[in-house]
Order: sequence, then structure tokens, then C-alpha cells
Amino acid sequence: MKEVKAIIQPFKLSAVTRALQEIPGFPGMTVSDCMGFGKEKGKEGPHRVVEDLIDYIPKVRIEIMLKNEMVDTVVEAITKTAHTGNPGDGKVFVYDIEKAVRIKTLEHGEEAI
Ligand SMILES: Nc1ncnc2c1ncn2[C@@H]1O[C@H](COP(=O)(O)OP(=O)(O)OP(=O)(O)O)[C@@H](O)[C@H]1O
Ligand SMILES: [Mg+2]
Repeated sequence: MKEVKAIIQPFKLSAVTRALQEIPGFPGMTVSDCMGFGKEKGKEGPHRVVEDLIDYIPKVRIEIMLKNEMVDTVVEAITKTAHTGNPGDGKVFVYDIEKAVRIKTLEHGEEAI
């Protein structure tokens, strides 16, 4: 099991969600608002929140727990759809998942996701 975590530009969320929902067997996702900065340290655009002398730019974080064989398809869907080529497009990270439990059924592991 893996986790795909992507930080993308908020205006790309709808298109990325549609692309992911087209993947057969897509298991689900968690979406949260977040703020951050990359190499440009927040100087990439006009939508800035200034706190403590550091500019944090609003982003959206997507978290997906999925079977190993789906990782490449999901990462490609996110990167293709979220790409503009401009600074601030975001990043995708992939992690190993140790354990998952579906609370309704108490299924464990891949059965749970
Ligand atoms: N190394 C990192 N660790 C954690 N979060 C990061 C990291 N790099 C970027 N982020 C998050 O991703 C968001 C988008 O990053 P961004 O795309 O600006 O990265 P970058 O390294 O500056 O590359 P780019 O040239 O594409 O702008 C940031 O606002 C931050 O929330
Ligand atoms: Mg940047």
C-alpha cells in the first residue's frame, strides 16, 4: 500500500478530481486547504497571505491511499492535469503505508482501501 500526497494549485482541484475519478477502481481521496512555499519562497504570484515576514501561498493538499499497482496511473493523472509550467505548480510525494483498517468492516490492509 502507498500514499500519494500532492500539493497543487487550488484552481486545478476540480480538473484533477475529475481525472482521478476516471481511473477504474479509484479508491477515494482526502482534500485539505493548506499554505506553503517552495523555492521561490512565496514570491510566485499575487495571492499571498503575509505572516511573520514569510509569505505563504494557498495550496490544496490531496491524499490518496492506494494499492501499489495504481500509483503510476494516479501520479500521472495528477501531474498531467495540474501542470501549467509556471512556478508554484506543486509537488507529488509517494510514501509506504504500514497499516490500514476499514472501520465499518474491520478489514485490514489492501482490503481496507
Ligand atoms: N520540499 C517541500 N516540502 C514540503 N512542501 C513543499 C516542498 N516544496 C514545495 N512544497 C509545497 O508545495 C507548494 C508548491 O511548491 P512549488 O511548486 O512552488 O515548489 P518549487 O520547489 O518552488 O518549484 P516551482 O519551480 O515549481 O515553483 C508549496 O507552496 C509548498 O506548500
Ligand atoms: Mg515555487
